[in-house]
Amino acid sequence: MSPHEHSAERPCLSRRAFLLSGGTAVTVTLLDGPLNRAFGQGAALKRASYPARRIGRISQLAVDRPVPFQYPWKDAYSANMLVKLGVPAGGGVGPARDVVAFSTLCTHMGGPLAGQYRGQHKVVGPCPLHLTTFDLTKHGMVVSGQATETLAQVVLEARGDEIWATGVMGLIYGYHSNLAGRA
Ligand code: FES
Repeated sequence: MSPHEHSAERPCLSRRAFLLSGGTAVTVTLLDGPLNRAFGQGAALKRASYPARRIGRISQLAVDRPVPFQYPWKDAYSANMLVKLGVPAGGGVGPARDVVAFSTLCTHMGGPLAGQYRGQHKVVGPCPLHLTTFDLTKHGMVVSGQATETLAQVVLEARGDEIWATGVMGLIYGYHSNLAGRA
């Protein structure tokens, strides 16, 4: 899979995707190959850029051992987990492209997903509220349950051994608009 970046706006997938723009600049990531087919033809996820921040080191991660961190801000809605899946993943960084990060707030009604990672299937869930499960190898795609939106994925960069967060793909639960600041 090789995501392509386009600056031009495309038709949005949903109201949440529309709200994500918040009237400010965002980029659109088009998904190719199997992932595109999984999301539907021409699937697109919007990515908002935030101030880059170092959130960990690749050498300190163990497979299937998520590490919590806050991003983009320090509020209750900025809860995420950094995890080395042990298999290549969409948006994964590091030599094996298996290090990813996701919000731990369910996109349906904000159910807490911290502690719900299932390493044997590389998913997070079921959500304790309405049982949604998300696939962390496919940009947080919904596997089953009530949610209809992919889990917000923290955009990562590997700078040597350091892992930096540089943005968020998808709307963070509790935000009326990414880039609008704190909810
Ligand atoms: S809040 Fe997670 S499925 Fe409803």
